[in-house]
Amino acid sequence: MPDVTLTTLQGLKRKGEKITMLTCYDATFAKTASEAGVEILLIGDSLGMVLQGHDSTLPVTVDEMAYHTACVKRGNRGALILADLPFMANATPEQTLNNCATLMRAGAHMIKLEGAGWLAEAIGQLADRGVPVCAHLGLTPQAVNLLGGYKVQGREEAAANRLIEDAKALERAGAAMILVECIPTELGAHLTSELGIPVIGIGAGPHTDGQVLVMHDMLGLSLSGRTAKFVKNFMNGHTSISAAFAAYVREVKSGEFPAAEHGFAA
Ligand code: KIV
Repeated sequence: MPDVTLTTLQGLKRKGEKITMLTCYDATFAKTASEAGVEILLIGDSLGMVLQGHDSTLPVTVDEMAYHTACVKRGNRGALILADLPFMANATPEQTLNNCATLMRAGAHMIKLEGAGWLAEAIGQLADRGVPVCAHLGLTPQAVNLLGGYKVQGREEAAANRLIEDAKALERAGAAMILVECIPTELGAHLTSELGIPVIGIGAGPHTDGQVLVMHDMLGLSLSGRTAKFVKNFMNGHTSISAAFAAYVREVKSGEFPAAEHGFAA
């Protein structure tokens, strides 16, 4: 496929074609996933859990994110590379700019920041300097201690309205994309129809502009032995990882994944 850019993603939203994203942390999987047609490779700070064995993403550092981003860049065959800014790497505006620069130099095309409406200023500053930003809203794993666990967000009307207002404010501030995690299906649909920028969901129902899963989850690998409701094991019925990635792309594009059973009610 031709190289995926922000313009490609905007075009997919306009055409109503679903966008595919998977997490990825090394060169071989980057090659395999991008050749299977995955459009966005996310170097998620979930690497702290699935690669390093921590019980949260909080211990992950900028240097570790840069290392894995550089690995993914070397294997990538045309996907857009999105890298997470890890916990507290945006504690001050100066740190935010410097740490995003480190990840862009390592090979990222876009940076993902977890938070809410308060990200607006940082997103504006980054956009002014040529850095496209994806804002991660809803369940934000870096705030797991504040949220009291990995829980569905936006179930109450006030929280749902706040999430929509935050997302609109971030779009106005210059966000290039929104990623929403673990929100009711109805809220995922409403948010997607309200925004002009692509909305990618994980546990946000089938109506978002695209989907993302943690690669280990969709390959049926789990350290804890627990599987989230929104995960589907794409190794079932397939004998290779390439075939599982291709099935994921096919099912997201056709709307077969996620099914109703993978979503959350309000
Ligand atoms: O770090 C990560 O893998 C993520 C996904 C859960 C979206 O942010």
